[in-house]
Amino acid sequence: MTILLPDTATLPAPLGGTLVHALRRPGHDFDPAELRGLPRLSLSERSAADLELIATGAYSPLRGFVGESDYLSIIGRMRLADGTPWSVPITLPVAREQAQALNGRVVLTFGGQDVGWIDVEEKFDAHKSLEAREVYRTQDQAHPGVAALLAQGNVNLAGPVALFDVPRGAFSHHHRTPAEVREVIEARGWRSTVAFQTRNPIHRAHEYLQKVALELVDGLLLHPLVGATKGDDVPAATRMKAYEVLLEGYYPRERTLLSVYPAAMRYAGPREAILHALSRRNYGVTHFIVGRDHAGVGSYYGTYDAQDIFSAYTPEELGIQILKFEHTFYCQSCGQLVSPRTCPHDASHHLVLSGTRVREKLRAGEPLPAEFTRPEVAEVLREAYAEQG
Ligand code: ADX
Repeated sequence: MTILLPDTATLPAPLGGTLVHALRRPGHDFDPAELRGLPRLSLSERSAADLELIATGAYSPLRGFVGESDYLSIIGRMRLADGTPWSVPITLPVAREQAQALNGRVVLTFGGQDVGWIDVEEKFDAHKSLEAREVYRTQDQAHPGVAALLAQGNVNLAGPVALFDVPRGAFSHHHRTPAEVREVIEARGWRSTVAFQTRNPIHRAHEYLQKVALELVDGLLLHPLVGATKGDDVPAATRMKAYEVLLEGYYPRERTLLSVYPAAMRYAGPREAILHALSRRNYGVTHFIVGRDHAGVGSYYGTYDAQDIFSAYTPEELGIQILKFEHTFYCQSCGQLVSPRTCPHDASHHLVLSGTRVREKLRAGEPLPAEFTRPEVAEVLREAYAEQG
């Protein structure tokens, strides 16, 4: 892997050239009275997150939920209709009966509040089997992403959106838009920044990948996904506590930025790795870590499928460098974190715990080995599981 590092603090251009900005503040940018009498649509947690990601530019160049030609092009060839790389269709699904009444400007609500609007330009039928097969590589209803796809409405609304305010929610200290992350990177003078996507507490293997990367680049954007995840993943609030204690004790403050990524998890493995990388480019980072089974679930994807899939694009098209890491674990004989690239010992020397096994241990009140999780993180997790009872 060749790692190219820029000499100057030039942030990568957003995909499509400009960062989409679709914040429209009631009372500033428009008169809220204009919304009276318009049809309303209540958003799911995932669609509310997608609205924010579109409107703040994290999904640049998308200016709205995608129409049918982009939808089919994304599914069929991992590109928007104009050829720009894009791997997962960002759709706004509604039930067929509901779709009929949703025309023109539709006010989007979440949790009973008006949060934005969509100007409906198109309505089209979802091709769910095709979408499942191509995007998720399976039609198995036990796959959490496929289950969500099958459960949602059969008609997709498409058109440009507006968002009234950034929903900074529970993690307001750590909630930054792409423009705000870009400002921090510039202010700190980082010439290169690596982003780390995660939906799990940081274990030693994650820390190892991040720190190997930090030996090469100037800054680390620790960018945990805090949108909807499947029921047995560790809740975002617990993870955030764990990230804070870990950063406090073990990371160079001036070279690290903890910021949340508001997206929902789709568990689409390779296709989602591309979405994760492209959106992180929009946040202004130059490098992105993809380890083993990135965004995977169960055994639907090969260990390195999420790395191999990037060969569908040229480096110029991607505009962000993918740092690919092999499976990393603790080796008792080496006395350190290693991967098959660096360790000569066989599996009997290695400590490997699956996410499922970790959750079982936590539920049973058993300690996690210090070689796997730092004690401070283990303590946050233990407390959270003890509270759950
Ligand atoms: S993910 O769904 O966000 O990918 P997770 O938080 O477990 O799940 O992983 C975050 C990143 O670390 C991903 O790029 C993943 O491939 C990588 N990763 C996680 N554990 C390991 C490991 N033991 N070895 C190598 N890479 C890993």
